[in-house]
Amino acid sequence: MEETMSGETMQALMCEKHGPPEDLVLRDMPIPEAGEGEIQIRVHASGLNFPDTLIIQDKYQMKPPLPFSPGGELAGVVTAVGPGVTRFQPGDRVAALTNWGGIAEYAVAPADQTTLVPDSMDLETASIFTLAYGTSHHALKQRANLQDGETVLVLGSSGGVGLSAVEVAKAMGARVIAGASSDEKLTLAKAHGADELVNYAEQDLKDSVKQLAGRQGVDVIYDPVGDKLANPAFRTIAWGGRYLVIGFAGGDIPAVPFNLALVKGASIVGVFWGDFVVRAPNLHLANMNELYAMHADGKLDPHISARYELADAGAAIRSMMERKVTGKVVVRCNSPE
Ligand SMILES: NC(=O)c1ccc[n+]([C@@H]2O[C@H](COP(=O)([O-])OP(=O)(O)OC[C@H]3O[C@@H](n4cnc5c(N)ncnc54)[C@H](OP(=O)(O)O)[C@@H]3O)[C@@H](O)[C@H]2O)c1
Repeated sequence: MEETMSGETMQALMCEKHGPPEDLVLRDMPIPEAGEGEIQIRVHASGLNFPDTLIIQDKYQMKPPLPFSPGGELAGVVTAVGPGVTRFQPGDRVAALTNWGGIAEYAVAPADQTTLVPDSMDLETASIFTLAYGTSHHALKQRANLQDGETVLVLGSSGGVGLSAVEVAKAMGARVIAGASSDEKLTLAKAHGADELVNYAEQDLKDSVKQLAGRQGVDVIYDPVGDKLANPAFRTIAWGGRYLVIGFAGGDIPAVPFNLALVKGASIVGVFWGDFVVRAPNLHLANMNELYAMHADGKLDPHISARYELADAGAAIRSMMERKVTGKVVVRCNSPE
């Protein structure tokens, strides 16, 4: 394990002014040092997530001071630990959440938002695992209280969190109806366990899902898209159903009439996984251990559809903005361990 010296530099993809991903530039930057409660990581790969498309445009709730590197999730090897860190040591293989700063050769992360990666998982997979699977597992388990045999509708089912929701719901014993905007995307959702498919770009979402779900309706709806899908999706919910508000990748924040919740005795359930990780770190660690075990048992099969080099990470962010990504995309930040 190579130690870094104070004052050494690294390469990082930098956002120097807010704007499109084409404005991001590769720069030599000082290697960040681990502060109190932090660890320094030689980044093997950085996993892209939807907030990376927003943070560079100053459209995300978190607003780091310029210049900064995007990249909220990564995996690599610990090179140094800051004061107060006892759970990690140099040489450990880890997956970490950083909010930003991850599309770089080195990054620092809070120790309590970092997990040890088991030998059963390679670091590239680890770089895309925590956020997507952590969100879907927390949403379905703690927020929806999903029960064996219930029906789940997943919108945006070939996307990062969507595809992980298909897999986690199946692993929890649910029947999954996957919705997506193309047959190609639905083929991927099917390969990852979906039982029924709805192409909502071509089919009427409400009618198609009602036909598949039958009189009972859908027990849990997992919605990372929002926009025009939320209203027809809500109309398929079962008595006592739970509508998981995950995100608004479609653009607009939908306004769903409250009477729909009343007549079905249904719940609209907000999911803010990032805050959950901070507020309940021990439960988050327990969730991640459960997910690592599910992966080791072959119940989860994370899908990486594209790999980019550090200098080309802007193109990776562009592909996500253009709705072209399926599963997850990684940026390779360093050569293998
Ligand atoms: N609440 C939480 O704790 C939490 C945690 C993680 C992520 N999220 C949110 O979940 C959402 C999805 O994140 P992700 O990382 O899974 O993104 P992603 O991989 O890009 O997937 C988003 C999906 O949304 C659909 N979509 C519809 N309109 C779109 C548009 N205009 N641009 C891009 N995608 C569009 C696409 O599926 P179709 O083409 O099939 O419609 C796409 O597969 C984001 O809003 C993110 O902020 C929330």
